Amino acid sequence: MEKLTGPKKIKTAVFISGTGSNLKNIIKFSKIKKSPISISLIISNTSQAKGLRFADQFKIKKKIFNFKNFKDTEMNILLLLKKEKIRFICLAGFMKILSKEFIEKFDGKIINIHPSLLPKYKGLNTHNRAIKNKDKLTGCTVHYVTATLDSGKIILQKKIKITVNDNSNTLAKKVLAQEHKLYPAAIMKIFN
Ligand code: GRF
Repeated sequence: MEKLTGPKKIKTAVFISGTGSNLKNIIKFSKIKKSPISISLIISNTSQAKGLRFADQFKIKKKIFNFKNFKDTEMNILLLLKKEKIRFICLAGFMKILSKEFIEKFDGKIINIHPSLLPKYKGLNTHNRAIKNKDKLTGCTVHYVTATLDSGKIILQKKIKITVNDNSNTLAKKVLAQEHKLYPAAIMKIFN
């Protein structure tokens, strides 16, 4: 893919599966003048994703793909990305694992946010695992997406203290609040 430079904001797609609080936050960030990206497309693997309402709210194109046939779906997504001139992808609570072939087509142009201090706790249930292990610290990580789950180069991380009173819900809330700061900061870091 071509280099991500130029005077115009970089057309970006956000992939979601759920609530979309990071999506909403990225959309708001994209609207400020200094943002290097604009959000032109929202993709979800389910029509149940609450975050899809932000597509309507902010008048952004949305598309749902059910991933029944994974290969075909990825091909159709790639066609849509091309049609919409998308050059950058933010995964934000997207629950499907993209194939190596797909990722290679957008090599170095897909990033993700993960609710742990990677490389600790790749995958799901990060907060439960941190509490079970009596960790004193957790956090969130924005990283490049590669073919190996939650293993690409780290762009930014934020540490968060775990207190004795924390459970996975309180921790999730604390971490999410920091995610909303970290994701825009990571995007700024990439393009500056
Ligand atoms: C976040 O905790 C993110 O780190 C993880 O999924 C959650 C998505 O939350 N990948 P939201 O849909 O952005 O509110």
